[in-house]
Amino acid sequence: MSAYELIDHEYDVVVVGAGGAGLRATLGMVQAGLKTACVTKIFPTRSHTVAAQGGVAASLANMGEDSWQWHMYDTVKGADWLGDQDAIEYMCREAVPSVYELEHFGVPFSRTKEGKIYQRPFGGHMRDFGAAPVPRACAAADRTGHAILHALYQQSLKHDAEFFIEYFAIDLIMDKGVCRGVVAWNLADGTLHRFRAHMVVLATGGYGRSYFSCTSAHTCTGDGNGMVARAGLPLQDMEFVQFHPTGIYTAGCLITEGARGEGGYLTNSEGERFMERYAPTAKDLASRDVVSRAMTIEIREGRGCGPKKDHIDLHLEHLGGDVLHKMLPGITETAKIFSGVDAVKEPIPVLPTVHYNMGGIPTNYLGEVLNPTAKNPDAVAPGLMAIGEAACVSVHGANRLGCNSLLDIVVFGRAAAIRTAEVVKPGAPHKPLKNDAELSLSRFDRLRNADGGLRVAEIRLNMQMAMQKDAAVFRTAESLQEGCKAVAGVAATLADVKLADRSMIWNSDLAEAMELENLMVCAQTTIVGAEARHESRGAHAREDFPNRDDAEWMKHTLAWCDDKYAVKLDYRPVHAYTLTKDVAYIEPKARVY
Ligand code: FUM
Repeated sequence: MSAYELIDHEYDVVVVGAGGAGLRATLGMVQAGLKTACVTKIFPTRSHTVAAQGGVAASLANMGEDSWQWHMYDTVKGADWLGDQDAIEYMCREAVPSVYELEHFGVPFSRTKEGKIYQRPFGGHMRDFGAAPVPRACAAADRTGHAILHALYQQSLKHDAEFFIEYFAIDLIMDKGVCRGVVAWNLADGTLHRFRAHMVVLATGGYGRSYFSCTSAHTCTGDGNGMVARAGLPLQDMEFVQFHPTGIYTAGCLITEGARGEGGYLTNSEGERFMERYAPTAKDLASRDVVSRAMTIEIREGRGCGPKKDHIDLHLEHLGGDVLHKMLPGITETAKIFSGVDAVKEPIPVLPTVHYNMGGIPTNYLGEVLNPTAKNPDAVAPGLMAIGEAACVSVHGANRLGCNSLLDIVVFGRAAAIRTAEVVKPGAPHKPLKNDAELSLSRFDRLRNADGGLRVAEIRLNMQMAMQKDAAVFRTAESLQEGCKAVAGVAATLADVKLADRSMIWNSDLAEAMELENLMVCAQTTIVGAEARHESRGAHAREDFPNRDDAEWMKHTLAWCDDKYAVKLDYRPVHAYTLTKDVAYIEPKARVY
């Protein structure tokens, strides 16, 4: 191992990842006077936030009456009562100032006639505690993530944040349960780097790529989740995987829910607007789990569209060319490229597609990573934070509402910086450490020299196919048990991986092998957690346990994954309380849209 030389860096804070969450945290840290490095495996403006389309939720009430209390109610209900209500209160209250802050950072939001930020309706966002859809999604046409990401990167540069771009984070440096930094590999020149920090913030995104068909970028490989698991910390609620109702049939690319927010609707092969049967009030704007299940049932019962009766039609033709070109230009182009459809003239063929991970690294609403113990389920792991899709705060519980993800990244990116400024003194000295990079370098070396019989792409495809088949929209004991066996079987084959490239510079074979190990941690904890949860809640729909069971299952799953990919489960209570006295706890009830 001594063959690898490490280049040392010392910072107050290291943020890993430069999507919206990582950039918002980086900016806040620098503004607070903390010496901050942002380490990212891809160029910041290519992060997956760039793909977020429809909007960022906030009760600005620009286009109709609204309140953060209604937003909170909708989020708790959408989460199917698995969300922590203290964190949800924090997010919905902070939504309004956070969006105005984005406006002041230069995000080019679309505008109403009066010049206010334009807002559109989105699934599950309602007025008057569920009475009717409300326009709450603050949108920059259908390129809201793109607009936010660029503004945050520009602001970070303006404030002289330091970026380490195309540096792949290998593992955390842990010392008796305290995080003290991270080891990273510079893809461009092959050098290895040890970043010491008093606070490491993981903003590494989700793990959509553990499935075959998803809206996530190829870079969404759960890298932070893998690092946390290897540090001996648990992941939380990994069984809750969101399927977005409108992925383009076969290609899987996202067609924003904003399309239905602008008046689009779904039909089956009989031309029926079937959502009226499943969700009489919200109809096509019910929450995503409800719409995805309804579409799947229509197809299963023989009412799918097309010659194979295997998809659903999304109609936008009636909106007219002007609306499509002004408000939905991105998806009009995507539909043309990926399904050959002119959305002005004909429906877009769509299917539910993996879109978001509600589960991830457990944190509190300040961004601090939890290391729960029997005595204290809210104990924190000092020196470590997680934000964005990598984290499970848990504001999305069992099912996230659309546009609460762009909100989550800005609110909790900002919260992480606020909290770090309270606990880290700028320029404080670092403790000396021994053998602190051992884990990273031995892993790096093992993979770099792996000489088995299976290529990374082969193993990855086997994992993705097993997840796609057995951890789908609807689940049964049979499918999940089969899935547990299949994914564990694929995980075992990682010991037989073969890398063709042994170089240090731009070795994409090695980067993909490290990503695959991270994905495998996520796949295993997802399928094992899903098999064990004997109820239906939010995105976790068990045909053999069709009801939500609050008495037994209103609790968060904790999943530890060891280096042989064996998973151990435990549980911790949901926070059944709010943050302040201003707002009452929202009691669980049946979820009707
Ligand atoms: O449909 C969309 O535009 C996606 C938004 C989201 O996932 O929040």
